[in-house]
Amino acid sequence: MMSQHADSALVPTCCTQPKSQFWEHVFSQLAPLLEGQRDWVTNLSNTTTLVYNALHSYPGFGDGASSVNWCGFYIDSSLFPTPKIRMDSAASDPQSRMLLGPFCGQPACQFIDTSRENGRGVCVDALLSRRTVLVPDVESYPGHIACDPNTKSEIVCPLILRSSGEEVGLGVFDLDCLAQGGFDDDDKAGLEKIAQLVVDACDW
Ligand code: SME
Repeated sequence: MMSQHADSALVPTCCTQPKSQFWEHVFSQLAPLLEGQRDWVTNLSNTTTLVYNALHSYPGFGDGASSVNWCGFYIDSSLFPTPKIRMDSAASDPQSRMLLGPFCGQPACQFIDTSRENGRGVCVDALLSRRTVLVPDVESYPGHIACDPNTKSEIVCPLILRSSGEEVGLGVFDLDCLAQGGFDDDDKAGLEKIAQLVVDACDW
């Protein structure tokens, strides 16, 4: 029985194959971690560290040449708390962009421009298309933004809030891998389910 929060990221051997079972296990560990909490900073923080550490327990994704080297969120800047010292209109960010949110891995770009004129990269494409983007080789992806030159493949899943027939793009969940072709359709399905859980668990 896993009772401590830190134990949530442990992956018993029985839950590593097939990979879909691994993602079901991670999902089942995440749900209780989000319970009773509606703040997105807190929930996204626990989500990144759970997914990152669980992946490091998964054969192939652990330390080594095919390690997941980054796992985190970029969130629309309008959703960040307004600094209390600047409660006037100047406090709101006039630009279309996502800011770096909770993550695990090396330091990354502070923000990503999401304007249709200047926006580029995997995160913007996932946000604007509202679809998960799987990139087997980042070097051949047009517009890819390289935060870490060691990254070889990437998957970005959009966070979409659906309410009364409307859809709002909140941000993205982004994972990088040191190997080419690091992510597959099982990862896509697992991450999309987690992204939906996180969206529903928070007040935006
Ligand atoms: N590669 C991303 C930028 C974010 S970093 O990978 C953390 C992109 O092309 O949008």
